[in-house]
Amino acid sequence: MVERNERVTKVALDIIDAIQDRLAAHDVTHQEYRAAWAWLMGLAQSGEVPLFLDVFFESIVERNTFDGVAGSEHAMQGPYYLDDHPVLSPPYCLPMRDDEPGDAMVFTGVVEDLGGNGIEGATVDTWQAANDGTYSGFVPDVPRGNLRGILTTAAGGTFRFSTIKPAPYRIPHEGPTGEFLLLTGLHPWRPAHFHFTITADGYKPLTTQIYFRGDEIIDGIGDITNGVKDSLIVDVGQGSDPTVASEHGIGPTYLVADATFALDSA
Ligand code: DHB
Ligand code: FE
Repeated sequence: MVERNERVTKVALDIIDAIQDRLAAHDVTHQEYRAAWAWLMGLAQSGEVPLFLDVFFESIVERNTFDGVAGSEHAMQGPYYLDDHPVLSPPYCLPMRDDEPGDAMVFTGVVEDLGGNGIEGATVDTWQAANDGTYSGFVPDVPRGNLRGILTTAAGGTFRFSTIKPAPYRIPHEGPTGEFLLLTGLHPWRPAHFHFTITADGYKPLTTQIYFRGDEIIDGIGDITNGVKDSLIVDVGQGSDPTVASEHGIGPTYLVADATFALDSA
């Protein structure tokens, strides 16, 4: 037996109330109602419910949940996390195809506590889009774990991995979510970003994203999901350390970016 739940009653009925109010205010006709109904059925059938919900609603609940907490700022998880990312061994190189398009990048991070002490043995789970803005596991012909990996921080809380620089992401436009964006004149872009979930014994987990200064979407039309926070934007530079290049099996010059992740104790 399902019992009445106070919180669901309060929030869900208020949302229904708000929708009814808007339907009345806009004189929505029965024909329009059926068109929206069919569109929602198509959204469910296409498997894009997670995408649509995250585009429009995850950022606000992420802020409700984490704004003001101690440590690094959180960011939404988004719809492209998988729970079976490859566990990597050092030197950390995100798995990629032989001909993976994009610019080589070496990302360096530090995981620390609120006092600035490095946390050794923290788990860093990262995932990103390929150069064409797609995520492995959600498009055909790309190995499932591509550009995803789990690594562990070394002494001092440091970690370093090589990858390709993520590219701006475009919400798929073939399906109902893309149709909705076209119908409403919204653009489909998110700025380039890495995703991270960082966990360590005795600390609260941190799910966040890292963006790049100078990103054409951040500086231009803006993130469709409204997920960017200033503290999460990092500079992109050039690296040419021969030891790093040979350890990671990349060319003599590469892009670099780095970030510090501060975890609050549990
Ligand atoms: C969304 C979030 C992401 O991080 C992403 O890469 C794509 C989409 C989203 O909120 O829908
Ligand atoms: Fe993403």
